[in-house]
Amino acid sequence: MEVFEAIRRRRSIRQYKPDEVPISEIEKVLQAANWAPSARNTQPWHFIVARGAKKDEFARLYGQIVERGMPPADRRTPDQERRLAWAHTLGKAPVVIIALTYRGDDPGRVKSSLESTSAALENLMLAATALGLGTCWMTGPLAEEARLREMFSIGSEWEIVATTPLGYPDGLPDPPARQDPEMKEKVTWIGFDER
Ligand SMILES: Cc1cc2nc3c(=O)[nH]c(=O)nc-3n(C[C@H](O)[C@H](O)[C@H](O)COP(=O)(O)O)c2cc1C
Repeated sequence: MEVFEAIRRRRSIRQYKPDEVPISEIEKVLQAANWAPSARNTQPWHFIVARGAKKDEFARLYGQIVERGMPPADRRTPDQERRLAWAHTLGKAPVVIIALTYRGDDPGRVKSSLESTSAALENLMLAATALGLGTCWMTGPLAEEARLREMFSIGSEWEIVATTPLGYPDGLPDPPARQDPEMKEKVTWIGFDER
């Protein structure tokens, strides 16, 4: 798939088919992540890839986090119920990926390290799209960071950047509209008198 098409087709997928993702496909998306640019070429990322019981445990934690912010069951809207179902099961995705970035002991590097790993994660998501796989960038689970660290034995030298399910989408949501689609407000052109 051409890169512009992958960029346009990538969506946050919150419903997955139960089909397993072959390890060879998971390796392809991880390889795409590994080719991202990084500050001083530090390549500071690490990915935890989980399926089975650990993935289910992760989904239960996310479900608890989302449920906490909702009204009681008898006062929920259908949309809230949908969000909760997604959270409790991770939309039935077979795999979850946790993106970590090396924090080290230099506070000056935290920002560039986060940026590098964000670039890697976006590469991963675009590669997944090109392979017909779905993802959803999620930082919601970080609301229980301590439990997440314990669940996956993540040491303090690592910053948790984001998490994503990985699996085959069960339907594609409509793309949310872009704010300022012609980018009149979002871009400042300098020295382009023809515009
Ligand atoms: C930093 C970040 C954090 C996000 N956290 C969550 C999350 O915790 N749960 C979730 O369902 N979606 C999360 N999203 C997905 C956004 O809701 C989604 O990207 C946005 O609505 C636009 O939809 P699209 O990705 O299909 O273009 C997150 C996205 C980003 C970039």
